Amino acid sequence: MADDYGKFITLEGSEGVGKTTNIEFVCQFLETNNVPFIRTREPGGTPLAEALREAMLAVREEEVSGMTELLIVFAARTQHLEQVIRPALALGQWVVCDRFTDASYAYQGYGRGLNLEHITALESWVQNGLQPDLTLLLDLAPDVAEQRMQERTKDRMESEQREFYQRVRAGYLERAAEQARFRIIDAQQSVDGVAAQIETHITDLIRHWRG
Ligand SMILES: Nc1ncnc2c1ncn2[C@@H]1O[C@H](COP(=O)(O)OP(=O)(O)O)[C@@H](O)[C@H]1O
Ligand SMILES: [Mg+2]
Repeated sequence: MADDYGKFITLEGSEGVGKTTNIEFVCQFLETNNVPFIRTREPGGTPLAEALREAMLAVREEEVSGMTELLIVFAARTQHLEQVIRPALALGQWVVCDRFTDASYAYQGYGRGLNLEHITALESWVQNGLQPDLTLLLDLAPDVAEQRMQERTKDRMESEQREFYQRVRAGYLERAAEQARFRIIDAQQSVDGVAAQIETHITDLIRHWRG
């Protein structure tokens, strides 16, 4: 029998690895397979959470502490979970989300050096056991990712140095090694090659969901 709840899929990886490109692919694939879904992103996904995103990413003179960033993203996440993600899953819709809590570990934990236990405490408080069913980690060397995003106007996170992105990448890979819900995707391949890898994982999840 089919699962009454929708599946929760997250795409992770730093800027320029291909999350937006591949979310488009995932959504098209779900549509073709008649799977009901919503597409959303973090930080963001509701008007308030999007306002928090803007506040967090704005380039400003004032120094922004890592803990401030962490609390802003978890405030946005709380709103997003309550208003959008939990209701959709309960209606049987799949949720396809551009980034989620793994990004808080990778950026604020590994990137900014915040205590990972603080992130774990917020995660269990805010999510109360809810985790993605599948996390697609697009893994790419930071210099290749940077070449891919050359035309973009950089926000505050995108203006970080190469070493920051190396820590973010290593952090993502460390988490992926620890948790069964991750699939590591080699994002250096062609657009079609990356999509083909993703398709096999989504196909498995649809099969599991339909029972
Ligand atoms: N596999 C790929 N090979 C080459 N270029 C790619 C690939 N995937 C995405 N791109 C290009 O790289 C840039 C960044 O991709 P994007 O999907 O916006 O990444 P993200 O959302 O992770 O920042 C875009 O110009 C996109 O067209
Ligand atoms: Mg994107």
